Order: sequence, then C-alpha cells, then structure tokens
Amino acid sequence: MGRCDKWKNATILIIVFNFSQAFIRNKVCNHVHPKPDEVIHGVHLEPAHVMKKRNIDQPLRILLHYDKSVFNLSEEQFELINSTVLPEALDFWQQALMVRRTESVIRLNRKCENNKIFFRKGEPYSYCKNTCETRTLCGEVEVPEEHLDVCRTCNASGMSCTSNGTPGPGIVGADFVFYVSAMKTERCSKGSTVAYAAHCQQESALDRPIAGHANFCPNSISTKPQELAILLSTVKHEILHALGFSISLFAFYRDQNGDPLTPREKNGKPVRNQKIQARQWSDKIIKTVVRKNWSVHGGLIDKEIQIMVTPRVVKEVQEHFNCSELEGAELEDQGGEGTVLTHWEKRVFENEAMTGTHTQNPVYSRLTLALMEDTGWYSANYDMAQPLSWGKNLGCDFVLKSCKDWIDSKRSSGHSIHPFCDKVKRDPLETECTDDRTSVALCNLVSYYPQTLPEQYQNFGHIPHIPEGEEGYYGGVVSLADYCPYIQEFTWRSQNIVIRGSHCQYPENNPHPDKNFALEEYGEESRCFDHTDKMWEQRACKQIRQWLHWGSGCYRYTCSDGLLHVMVNNITYTCYYPEQVLTIQIFANNWLHKGALVCPPCEEMCNMTCKHMTPETSPNPSYHIDQLTCSVPPLLCTHLLTGFCIFWTLFNYPRWQTGGFI
Ligand SMILES: *[C@@H]1O[C@H](CO)[C@@H](O)[C@H](O)[C@H]1NC(C)=O
Ligand SMILES: *[C@@H]1O[C@H](CO)[C@@H](O)[C@H](O)[C@H]1NC(C)=O
Ligand SMILES: *[C@@H]1O[C@H](CO)[C@@H](O)[C@H](O)[C@H]1NC(C)=O
Ligand SMILES: *[C@@H]1O[C@H](CO)[C@@H](O)[C@H](O)[C@H]1NC(C)=O
Ligand SMILES: *[C@@H]1O[C@H](CO)[C@@H](O)[C@H](O)[C@H]1NC(C)=O
Ligand SMILES: *[C@@H]1O[C@H](CO)[C@@H](O)[C@H](O)[C@H]1NC(C)=O
Ligand SMILES: *[C@@H]1O[C@H](CO)[C@@H](O)[C@H](O)[C@H]1NC(C)=O
Ligand SMILES: [Zn+2]
Repeated sequence: MGRCDKWKNATILIIVFNFSQAFIRNKVCNHVHPKPDEVIHGVHLEPAHVMKKRNIDQPLRILLHYDKSVFNLSEEQFELINSTVLPEALDFWQQALMVRRTESVIRLNRKCENNKIFFRKGEPYSYCKNTCETRTLCGEVEVPEEHLDVCRTCNASGMSCTSNGTPGPGIVGADFVFYVSAMKTERCSKGSTVAYAAHCQQESALDRPIAGHANFCPNSISTKPQELAILLSTVKHEILHALGFSISLFAFYRDQNGDPLTPREKNGKPVRNQKIQARQWSDKIIKTVVRKNWSVHGGLIDKEIQIMVTPRVVKEVQEHFNCSELEGAELEDQGGEGTVLTHWEKRVFENEAMTGTHTQNPVYSRLTLALMEDTGWYSANYDMAQPLSWGKNLGCDFVLKSCKDWIDSKRSSGHSIHPFCDKVKRDPLETECTDDRTSVALCNLVSYYPQTLPEQYQNFGHIPHIPEGEEGYYGGVVSLADYCPYIQEFTWRSQNIVIRGSHCQYPENNPHPDKNFALEEYGEESRCFDHTDKMWEQRACKQIRQWLHWGSGCYRYTCSDGLLHVMVNNITYTCYYPEQVLTIQIFANNWLHKGALVCPPCEEMCNMTCKHMTPETSPNPSYHIDQLTCSVPPLLCTHLLTGFCIFWTLFNYPRWQTGGFI
C-alpha cells in the first residue's frame, strides 16, 4: 500500500477514476390550482339543452395567444418554445381529445370589481356589481380587449342593469384559448419550476374550461437537446391541468349525459370547501378508502387513501393491474398543495406522466385519457395513449398492498422483487437496466441517516448488506412513491452540471471516447445490456484502469436469422441463448478494453420468431479477441475511495510473463 504519487516515475501509472456522480432526478410538479374566486364562471356560449345533445366528436382546437413577455425570451428559447415545444404539446392534446362542437364565438367574461357578480333569472349572462375591472387577467396574462365581452353591470341592489361598450371580435374557430407568458415570477424561483398552468374561465352550460394560461420560467428553460423530452412532457402535463386534471375542476365533472356528478347549490355551483380552497366534489368522483393491514416495518397500520372512482378510470385501472377488486385509481396523498390530489399516486403509477414528479420515461397512458373522458367534456382517441409498463398485470397484491408486503412475499417465495429493488446506491456504483431496457438505471434506495423515515414509509424488514435495526434509515429517493425503492434512470453530473443522461436512445448521452471504458454506444437503435459482475478494465502497456462503476451499458443491437446480435465498437456478437456471456476484448482509442456482456432472451428484444438454443445446441461462439503486446508487464492499482492504492503483484497475472494477453 502507498500513496499513488509514489509510482509516478515508474513504469506503472496509477489512475483514479470517479469524475462524475450519478444523480437521480426528482422534479415535483407544483400545480397551484386557481382558487374559486380566481376563476370566472358562466361564460355564455350556448344553452345547456343544446350543448348536451351534441356528440363529443370534434377534435379539440386550442388557440395560442402570446403575452409580450414571451418575446423577451432568448432567441434560442423562443425558437424552442414556439417551433417545437408548444406545437408538439398542443398537437398531442388536439389529436388525443375531442369536444362538442363550439358553434358560437367565445368572448371571455370581464373580471368584476371585488368579484361581486349577479345572475339574473332567465338570462344567460352574468353582471358585475357596480363596475367591471379595467383589466381581466388569466394567470399573469392580461386578456386582450378583443377577446372580451362587453362590460355588464347592475347597481348595488341588482337593478339598473346595462351593458357598456361593443363586444370584441372574440375567439373564432377554437374551443379553448391558451395564454402563454414567460415571466420570472415568484413561483418560478421555488424549486426548479419550468412551467405551470391552470384554467381561468369556464363556460356556463356544462362548465367546460375554455381559457387557460401557462407561464414558462425563463431561467429554467434549457435548450439542451437531452432536456427536450422532459420539457415537452412537462408542458403537456401542465396543459392537462388546465384542460381538466385539477383539484379545482373535479367538482364540475359531469356524467355521460352531461349531468353534474356533484350536487349544486342554488347558484348552480358545487359547495366551496374552505380548507382546500376548492369546490367540494361528491364521492361519485373521489372516494376515501381505508386499506387495513398495511404492512410497514413496525407492523400493520390503517392507510387512508383517496381514489378516483369515475367509470372509465375504474375500468382502465382494473384492466391495467388485472385486479377486479380495485376501487379506482389512487391519487397522490403527499407533496403539499400543488401536488396532493391533482396527480396519480406515484407508488402505483410511477412513470405515468400525470404523477406528481418526473422520474423517467414519462407516458400518457389510457388511464389519463380515461379521466379526461370522465370529466364529461371530452372523448379520447386511445390510439394516442402510450403503453404504461409499470405494474402491468401485477395483480391485486401489487396495487392493494404496501411495497413492503410485495417485497417480503416475493422474496419469501424466491421470486424477483421487481419492480422494486433493494440495492443501496453507493460506491462503487452498480448500475442495472430498466425493465424495458431503454436505459441504464440505478436502484434508488438511499440512506436518510441520521433521519429515520416516518413509520408508515419504513418499507423494509431486511436489506441485504445492511445491519439489522438500521432499516428505518433506508428508503427510495422518491418520497411521492411512499419511499418505495425502484429502478430509475439518472444523470451523470460533475459539479452539479449535467454531463449526460443514462437513456440509451439519445446519442447525446454517449460518453466521451476517453471515458468510454465499456465501449458503450447510445442511439436510436441501442438498448441496455447487463455486464457480468466483474468490473471492466482498460489496459495500455503502462497502465491499467478500473472504473468505479459498472453493471450495465447501452449497446446497439439487431435481430436477424432468429437471433439477437449485439454490436460493440462495430463488432457483431451473436447471442445464441439467454444468459450467454459475451467476452469482449477490443483494442480501441489506444486501450485494450476487457469486459463481458450478458445476453437477454431474444424474445425480449426482437419482434420475430426466435430460435431456441441452449449452450449444448448452439455453435461454439468464436469471439473477436484483440491482443496487446508489451515489453514490460503492466501493474494494476485500484483506487478504493481512500486515495491509496493496492499494489497487485505479477502473481495475479502469471501469464503476462510469457508475453501478450490471453
Ligand atoms: C423584458 O425584460 C426586461 C428586462 O429584463 C424587463 O424590464 C421587461 O419588463 C420585460 N418585458 C416583459 C413584457 O416582460
Ligand atoms: C411561431 O411559430 C409559428 C408556427 O409554429 C410560426 O408561424 C410563427 O411565425 C412563429 N413566430 C415567430 C415570431 O417566429
Ligand atoms: C339601483 O337602481 C334602482 C333603480 O334605478 C334604484 O331604485 C336603486 O336605488 C339603485 N340602488 C343603488 C344602490 O344605487
Ligand atoms: C387484517 O388482518 C387480520 C388478522 O391478521 C384479519 O383478521 C383481517 O381479516 C384482515 N383484514 C383485512 C381487510 O384483510
Ligand atoms: C389475471 O389474473 C388472473 C387471476 O386473478 C390470472 O388467471 C390471469 O392469468 C391474469 N391475467 C394476466 C394477463 O396476467
Ligand atoms: C462504426 O462504423 C460506422 C460506419 O462505418 C462509423 O461511422 C463509426 O465511426 C464506427 N464506429 C466505431 C466506434 O468504430
Ligand atoms: C412486429 O412485426 C410485425 C410484422 O413485421 C408488425 O406488424 C408489428 O407492428 C411489430 N410489432 C412491434 C411491437 O413492433
Ligand atoms: Zn402536475
């Protein structure tokens, strides 16, 4: 043992490698819902009896309107938002959702002074008490005069009602107007908020939201290509809060006939709930359910949850999990005002894009489309739904019980605890593959020491390699997922700057050639393959490098002749049977790279009829083997966090002395 520097002048060079750190992303959505007073109701379009009769079969049309602040964005940001992000996000919902035909022009209501409004019997319009405000805001954006209706007022005793001014041209050829701004607001500075959105006006016949706003936070909009997918998904997510998925709209949901699911007061609106600052929904929409016998480290507890129980949502979740007892879709119960209830429960729906935090690979599934149908305002084009693999067909045990229960029962029956995991994240870092093999990933189990997790989130009776009694300190990094640990994508960071992501299909994630020890290749045609449990190494004549992380990597692959082929540095390796070990020994970038990959089952990767072979029936594989010839045998030094080196003698490599490598 000795300090690394000691050998600087010898023929051995000792290399220490841990340039960047793996960082698991966990951005929480903060949908600050509009309070009852902030929403203008009663925009008259057409009478309810006319609207109700229409089929919900017209593609949703969203009109964009930019606030001046949008033009203050940098040229690159504006280009990204205007030409890519907004068109793609709006297109998605315009293709995914249909509405009843809007025949009339939409003219938004003016805000009344002090929100004092009169409704007159038999009249479709509302009136302001005394005066209208001079400006009507939608979020932070001032609604342009040409979108507004005339100012209707009555005096303080509700008499002498008049309308002043001439109506603007209004919004023609659209069902929803979306005001977009890019201001540095107070909400932007909270956390790392990229954008937020909400609705601001509802029409009077069926309460459908018809106007909304979104604010982009200028300082958080990255134009890096590897951040685009997340930005796009975030914007789609925010738009959906404005279109219907919001605690401020649940109470307005209607059934298939257009009748309210929540009883209305005399003023035609559901009763206000002061505590949550929203209108209170009925239990035809959300039910409170108590899960008995919820297993945690300390024993069994009763867990109270809120469940979305509208009919299409119920059907979709029962089919997704293959659990006919399931009452509906569990809603998020953590995360504070902007997150709670306005998202799907993270533990149950992980990468569904309408959960409260982005972790990886967000998808808009059938469940979210079903909810939009259950608002009574939309019908959905299910061809636009993206498959959600999390929890698919895992049954009632997965969805009705705690993750501790699931982990314990799978372990005791000798099965994989997938989709949960129990490998604590630490150095050296051991990566894995996500289930769909689109990404290198890590088990997101970490220590919260010296904090113990709240009892109801202590999900472990036992964790491999962790002393008994310390389980309470450990949990997944995603608190919204009830701290249940699971396999998650991550980013490599150095000094907190994102260097690259771990998703196999983005070419920008390719490691720098100098650091590509396992000869990975990221791109459209790449997927994640497991390494064996031996670390990879790089050799030159005077150096050996070992890396402080390993476990899996991204490689290009093809499927042909009934077999799966993996490409490493453009050399093709054929997989004949699952679990086959591919020995890699390739000279590239002046280093000899040594390591191994494990073949996944062909069926998992290839959409074709796979040949079924075993080690006995497969041809003897002949692997490409590069050699390194050196006059002086190299020595190995491994850095083990301490800054010290372990000197490995030649005895470890007896064959070197006879020249060359095996
Ligand atoms: C544009 O940016 C300038 C400088 O930051 C600011 O003073 C101005 O108010 C912004 N304009 C809008 C419309 O936001
Ligand atoms: C914004 O994008 C639209 C089309 O997506 C384009 O017609 C328009 O010119 C763009 N605006 C600016 C200011 O570039
Ligand atoms: C409202 O108008 C009616 C009829 O013009 C009048 O009798 C009443 O005094 C007015 N009320 C107020 C508060 O001005
Ligand atoms: C909870 O467990 C107790 C005993 O372990 C059992 O009697 C009871 O039926 C269980 N309740 C539910 C709802 O599973
Ligand atoms: C659904 O669950 C039933 C038993 O509850 C099982 O027989 C069936 O195979 C499951 N279906 C799928 C697709 O997993
Ligand atoms: C693989 O082959 C392609 C096309 O011949 C070439 O562009 C690429 O640089 C090669 N990659 C490596 C790592 O040799
Ligand atoms: C599998 O291949 C068939 C025929 O080539 C094609 O129709 C089908 O869409 C493919 N499925 C997937 C999931 O790619
Ligand atoms: Zn949200």
